[in-house]
Amino acid sequence: MTRVYVTRCLPEDSARLLQKDGINVVMRSTDDAIPRQELLDNIPGCDALICMLTDKVDKDVLDAAGKHDTKLNHLTSPSLKVIATVSVGFDHIDLDECKKRNIVVSNTPRVSTDAVAELTVALLLATSRRLMECANAVKNGDWKSWGLLWMCGTELRGSTVGIFGLGRIGIAIATRLQCFGVKQFYYTDIVEVPQVEIEDLLKSCDFIIINCALTPETAGLFNEKAFAKMKNNCVLVNAARGGVINQKDLYQALVSGAIKGAGLDVTDPEPMAKDDPLLTLNNCVVLPHIGSNTMETRTEMASLAVNNVLAVLDGKPLLTPVPR
Ligand code: DGY
Repeated sequence: MTRVYVTRCLPEDSARLLQKDGINVVMRSTDDAIPRQELLDNIPGCDALICMLTDKVDKDVLDAAGKHDTKLNHLTSPSLKVIATVSVGFDHIDLDECKKRNIVVSNTPRVSTDAVAELTVALLLATSRRLMECANAVKNGDWKSWGLLWMCGTELRGSTVGIFGLGRIGIAIATRLQCFGVKQFYYTDIVEVPQVEIEDLLKSCDFIIINCALTPETAGLFNEKAFAKMKNNCVLVNAARGGVINQKDLYQALVSGAIKGAGLDVTDPEPMAKDDPLLTLNNCVVLPHIGSNTMETRTEMASLAVNNVLAVLDGKPLLTPVPR
């Protein structure tokens, strides 16, 4: 019997796809992050793992996936063949360790592009037009009268927008922003050939949107040095991975006025602590990593992960292998 372990409760349609003869599906019944020990306890003997971006799949988990040879008392030939993450990002999976064990890994690109682009534009506007601050002012009774200069924000019309990491999502965001009258787009990437160097993007843009993957090269890239180069009116938006920004440095930059505002859909760690200093700032909007949270997209992501697993169990190649 093939064993598939799923770390969260999948939407009904996707879960149904897994109901096949010869497949024993063990799926958690809740939508909370699996405790690490629970993953370690359940992974032994699995052929496939469907996981989320909250599940760290490292050497220890992969070692635990091995079959325990009681005679030799060590781990031999792991049964785990495939890991399908229900996310575009795969920084939570140790790809080198997977490769050593011939475990193939898939993610869910493309299906979430529109949802993430939409949310990123919403977050940019919420930050630049101070929507949370304004809504809170109404709730708190601070709306005394219409004000000529009260709660003024900045607009996209005539601005220069920088996109750091121009993958599918970056392109989808740029496409949506075009109709706001943006004067110029800059993009840079540390993987692809950049249009401009990162230095130029930092010093020229009124809005900077981070869209890159979290890698050793991008970790903490947006730090004190980067903020010092940015324009004082710059609004920074991050819907990629929290680790790309040094949050202590961001706090200083927002307090000192080195940059104007920040919209974060992702933080490091997640969830962000309730007493994180960034949450005390009016010029910082923090969302709980909801980039791809639409029913349509989440359902497609889950189905794609399931279909990746089914393909491998059927001896076929992955539909969407992670790029290596
Ligand atoms: C992803 O798919 O990696 C996104 O971060 C989910 O919102």
